[in-house]
Amino acid sequence: MSASLGATRLGPGLLSLDDLDEAQLHALLTLAHQLKCGERVANLHGKVLGLVFLKASTRTRVSFTVAMYQLGGQVIDLSPGTTQVGRGEPVRDTARVLGRYVDGLAIRTFAQAELEEYAHYAGIPVINALTDHEHPCQILADLLTIRENFGRLAGLKLAYVGDGNNVAHSLLLGCAKAGVSIAVATPEGFAPDPAVSARASEIAGRTGAEVQILHDPFEAARGAHVLYTDVWTSMGQEAETQRRLQLFEHYQINAALLHCAEAEAIVLHCLPAHRGEEITDEVMEGPRSRIWEEAENRLHAQKAVLAALMGGRYFQAGGE
Ligand code: CP
Ligand code: NVA
Repeated sequence: MSASLGATRLGPGLLSLDDLDEAQLHALLTLAHQLKCGERVANLHGKVLGLVFLKASTRTRVSFTVAMYQLGGQVIDLSPGTTQVGRGEPVRDTARVLGRYVDGLAIRTFAQAELEEYAHYAGIPVINALTDHEHPCQILADLLTIRENFGRLAGLKLAYVGDGNNVAHSLLLGCAKAGVSIAVATPEGFAPDPAVSARASEIAGRTGAEVQILHDPFEAARGAHVLYTDVWTSMGQEAETQRRLQLFEHYQINAALLHCAEAEAIVLHCLPAHRGEEITDEVMEGPRSRIWEEAENRLHAQKAVLAALMGGRYFQAGGE
């Protein structure tokens, strides 16, 4: 990120949650809260964000667009079907050109390496709007939602049940940085990338959180303040859908799993959801669900990211 958050200067974009240190993470959440409360603490008048989306999106695309409009800026759709990227123009060429027109890029693609290539060549802030490896903007909204609900982050426990995917990776990093203990329960063979788990454990060693990689969803849910799940089959894995339906059958957030968690536990899901697969309709629509608040918080969290990266805005790193 290009803006200074208190004494710390952020890098040139948000490619991974690991691009933020703990103070920067808390400062972004505080800015998101201020923006949500209607405080006029950021202005992107005259700035243009390019949206490069190689995968479908409802929440991310719309919330980035509305965030820019509400901050006084504009967006331009640069999806491959509308540009020469779709006809094979190399990323390094495209990035160098786009960087001379727009002030930032939000990119949703497959390989993290492609995102990094855009960031390397564009010379402007690049934001990860989801790759196969990470989904950092989602997790900023999740942490905002958890902090709003409990009034704190450090000392809580989150249980993630399902696939060790992009969302699980960013949750591992984000929870560890926020001091939230995290237990991830996946079927055998679907655990998160061991490098990400190891990095999360290293961070957690500093923040006092605990990181557990498990296979039993009930063990993960025990004592949890937050239950979290995501689709069993992510975008790009559609050929594995049938196999995954069988393998993930027991990795569902339902009434029995919720019963295992703390009495005040809340349920989150990044959406889109497949009711009857990773989560029951009863839990989604039930009193412990904070899923719609979570979806709304994408807007506020991303406004904070945009302001920090593109606004040249200086604000103080704050605690929780
Ligand atoms: N959660 C999320 O990123 O949703 P979209 O795929 O609709 O953007
Ligand atoms: N893991 C999911 C997240 C969707 C927001 C996917 O990549 O499709």
